[in-house]
Amino acid sequence: MSWRATVLTLFPEMMPGPLGHSLAGRALEQGLWVLETQDIREYGLGRHRTVDDTPFGGGAGMVMRADVLDQAIDEAAPEGRPLVYLSPRGRRMDQAMAREFASGPGLVLLCGRYEGVDERVLEARGAREVSIGDYVLSGGELAALVLLDACVRLLPGVMGAEASGVEESFGPGGLLEYPHYTRPAEWQGRAVPEVLLSGDHARIAAWRRAESERITRERRPDLWQAHDRMLDSAARAP
Ligand code: 6GU
Repeated sequence: MSWRATVLTLFPEMMPGPLGHSLAGRALEQGLWVLETQDIREYGLGRHRTVDDTPFGGGAGMVMRADVLDQAIDEAAPEGRPLVYLSPRGRRMDQAMAREFASGPGLVLLCGRYEGVDERVLEARGAREVSIGDYVLSGGELAALVLLDACVRLLPGVMGAEASGVEESFGPGGLLEYPHYTRPAEWQGRAVPEVLLSGDHARIAAWRRAESERITRERRPDLWQAHDRMLDSAARAP
């Protein structure tokens, strides 16, 4: 029983796209997860396989039809898998959401184009609307690929032990990563921080921790605040 993703899209040729070349691609070959793509066009109406129509109330652009999408979703057989509609209007995805999705049976991902989809199919199907950040993409496909990459790397057996430790530290209450260095020890007059060459593992761990904290404070005050709050509540716990 592998983790299963079904992507409903008008552009099935975009899948698995870059995922085929990454860690996720190797995991796909190994059968650690399954990717199905469904062409929404196949459920289109009439000789032209129409999937969209003009919006009630007027306005620019086209809206994807509820009846067409409903059929496509039926064919995907969600059966306990959450239906996710990718949209800039959705709840913003974060590491906690990726962990939640990865711990479930898989996902059905609905990718919209045009101005959007008829609201009623989202209501009727209890779709979870998800955004990958505060900017606008021209369709849900790239967002679906981003979401899938974030989930798949968390599946058991996909990633080595070294990465899973780092994983724990990011997300709500987590910190950003410390800086990394490799040979040469001096490059263009720039030396690697001396402590990293010391062989003193306790000092190295303390330096990395301090750097993680500094970088988080400087770059992401929002994450730093969440981290502070987490430490506070841990200190107050009985
Ligand atoms: Cl999920 N879709 C689109 N079209 N644009 C987005 C997005 C999703 N997330 C951020 N921008």
